[in-house]
Amino acid sequence: MAPESAAEPRLVLLFGGPGAGKGTQADRLSASLGVPHVSSGDLLRERQDHPQVMNSGGLLPDDLVTDIVLARLDCPDAARGAVLDGFPRTLAQASALDAWLKQRGGRISAGLYLDVPQQTLIDRVAARGHVSHREDDTTEVAGRRVAAFLRELPAVLDHYEQLGVLHRIDGAPTADQVQRAIMESLGRAG
Ligand code: AP5
Ligand code: MG
Repeated sequence: MAPESAAEPRLVLLFGGPGAGKGTQADRLSASLGVPHVSSGDLLRERQDHPQVMNSGGLLPDDLVTDIVLARLDCPDAARGAVLDGFPRTLAQASALDAWLKQRGGRISAGLYLDVPQQTLIDRVAARGHVSHREDDTTEVAGRRVAAFLRELPAVLDHYEQLGVLHRIDGAPTADQVQRAIMESLGRAG
């Protein structure tokens, strides 16, 4: 049994397609919950392991991404939890996270799916491309990122729906309105 003083991390997971607003909302939630914002995309961009895969809109290998994200969650500043943005993105990653949580005695407070129409996703990514300097922020690559998201995410969402922690949020209104909807959902999440 874990010692009484050991922290039991609580995670909020943010799901959604490219440009759904995961990073925007994760920053806000991280500030209001006082736990770090952990973005798999940011961690991978810092390392530049497979730039060609990322720049073309494909997914990186599950083992690599899982090792990097779980190592980040093991850092002391995440002892009480974190807001996870972009992970897990596949069922294999979700299973690895389940195993990690079991080992730590932690739990998922909520999984938030930011639901945004496909064309809006592509428009937001293309618009951000003018200032982001991300090589994957072009209309063409955004289309491939949306395809990867549509292929993998339904199974991940089903997984969290079955665990009873999934909340579907309309991600199309303004960022402030989406934030209010998220806070209402979390209020109900208990
Ligand atoms: P990642 O960095 O996670 O990118 P993504 O999922 O494609 O999402 P984005 O960061 O583009 O969008 P976002 O949802 O964060 O939206 P944002 O808030 O920025 O992943 C990049 C790559 O890394 C992947 O393609 C893959 O190669 C690899 N990778 C990452 N995780 C992986 C994993 N788990 N497994 C395998 N590979 C992985 O908002 C977007 C824009 O819209 C901004 O300009 C913002 O200001 C604007 N905006 C936000 N909210 C609103 C709103 N409500 N209304 C209007 N505009 C809004
Ligand atoms: Mg992001």
